[in-house]
Amino acid sequence: MKKINLVILFSGNGSNMENLIEYFNHNEFLSEDAKEKVGIQISCAVTNNPNAYGISRCEALGVNCEILPHKEFDSREKFDEALLTLLKKYNPDAVILAGFMRILSPVFTSVIKSINIHPSLLPKYKGANAIKETYESGDEFGGVSVHWVSDILDGGEIILQDYIPKIAGESLEAFEDRIHKLEHNLYPTAILKALNLTRVIK
Ligand code: GAR
Repeated sequence: MKKINLVILFSGNGSNMENLIEYFNHNEFLSEDAKEKVGIQISCAVTNNPNAYGISRCEALGVNCEILPHKEFDSREKFDEALLTLLKKYNPDAVILAGFMRILSPVFTSVIKSINIHPSLLPKYKGANAIKETYESGDEFGGVSVHWVSDILDGGEIILQDYIPKIAGESLEAFEDRIHKLEHNLYPTAILKALNLTRVIK
């Protein structure tokens, strides 16, 4: 069976990473022309944060995890060069960002095809506080965006978006939980769309 090889980058909790690994491990996929079965393998996860909780998720899942602390590099570009060198070992078909909280420079984005998830209806609320900013806004809806990565923060072409209505009186924590559930539903589907694959329904 043809295999697509992905590497996941994360910085913290790693719930999206875990969800993707479980989903890809437990499903089979079909190529665009429906002629051939395709498997998706995660050859490695990489974190820039040696204290990320996601590292223990990788251990439990049996997924190889590389730790590349960004603090050891004195510029964004030098970190990105080291990340590229590390990725060469795994030769991924695409790189998936799942809560990877670093801006990638053109050193990386001009060479690597990568996909990101962001917890807002982009172009609204870019950056690190999207859920809180959506919650505190007068908007009727919150949502999640999956997009191709460019060197503009949270700015590449949208692959898929999904939204939820805001509920009057809901706490920030409850709203955040609903956004994360939406992410866990949307991200696998959006990645399949980006890779021109469909899931085999058993
Ligand atoms: C997710 O909500 C993801 O959308 C967000 O970080 C969280 C990571 O959670 N990413 C960004 O805000 C990127 N700009 P997780 O580590 O549990 O997957």
